[in-house]
Amino acid sequence: AVPVIIDCDPGHDDALALLLAVGDPRLRLLGVTTVAGNQTLAKTTSNALKILALAGAIDVPVAAGCDRPLVGELTVAGDIHGESGLDGPDLDVPVGEAAGVHGVELMRRLILGYGEPVTLIATGPLTNVALLLRRHPEVLPYVRRVVFMGGSTDRGNTTPYGEFNIVTDPEAADIVLRSGLPVTMIGLNVTHQALATTQIIEEFRGMGTRLGVICADLMTFFASTYRRVFGFEHPPVHDPIAVACVIDPSIIVTVAVPVAVELVGAYTKGATVVDLHGRSGAVANADVAVGIEVEAFWRLLMAAVRRVGLG
Ligand code: BDR
Ligand code: CA
Repeated sequence: AVPVIIDCDPGHDDALALLLAVGDPRLRLLGVTTVAGNQTLAKTTSNALKILALAGAIDVPVAAGCDRPLVGELTVAGDIHGESGLDGPDLDVPVGEAAGVHGVELMRRLILGYGEPVTLIATGPLTNVALLLRRHPEVLPYVRRVVFMGGSTDRGNTTPYGEFNIVTDPEAADIVLRSGLPVTMIGLNVTHQALATTQIIEEFRGMGTRLGVICADLMTFFASTYRRVFGFEHPPVHDPIAVACVIDPSIIVTVAVPVAVELVGAYTKGATVVDLHGRSGAVANADVAVGIEVEAFWRLLMAAVRRVGLG
């Protein structure tokens, strides 16, 4: 199985990303680190612990990382994910405790301690990953690659050209994209194709497990905020796509191109500037997702949630 660490800010779609990683036998989830983003660090950490407990994955270590971006203040996404960060379902469950170390330190230990290179999957702002690479460059040879959900080849969702994870911590995204590591970017241009339709929500509910009902309730809440804020008929589930492409690369089409993060634009700070046509002459630094097999993605996710739900 592919050893992975998930760095996340749960978050409705982060919750699905965690369930996919726990439920698919092709991955080995070594640990989960949390970051401030969709909600405050205390909330995203408690949410990660809840989801792992509900998934029966209490042996997976969880550690809280950065409570704010590298530069500037945190702006949470309570309008999308609610006051708790996971509003909607009943998540009452006895939870484990977070590890007594910082998330960046947990990542360092897991990466250096595992006998082969580890894949980092980031589904929140890239604060922890950037700090890891800066503070502990000795991990670089042992990071197989970084796959992150964030950015877009076209428009944004937080500013006209900026996507939430990158806008929340543009400097961190810049560090990761310049790290020289193999980086895969799963942006809005593909995640907006994977929609939690009414049929998908009913499929979750029909699984006959508590976890299936929780996923249905999560997506029902997510649908209501996406409808109110964006006028979308069905909400896109961004984060599990980053996990899915590590499990089965054939569900994503990527192109190797130069990507820069806008750090100074008056209106465009946090935009990912993707040079799809090689006009800049810059060297490609990322594999950028440009296509997705939506049905294959849903089959992966559903199979994992079903497996986890049955215990
Ligand atoms: C990203 O922002 C967050 O609200 C979601 O969890 C996802 O990671 C989408 O822009
Ligand atoms: Ca997220």
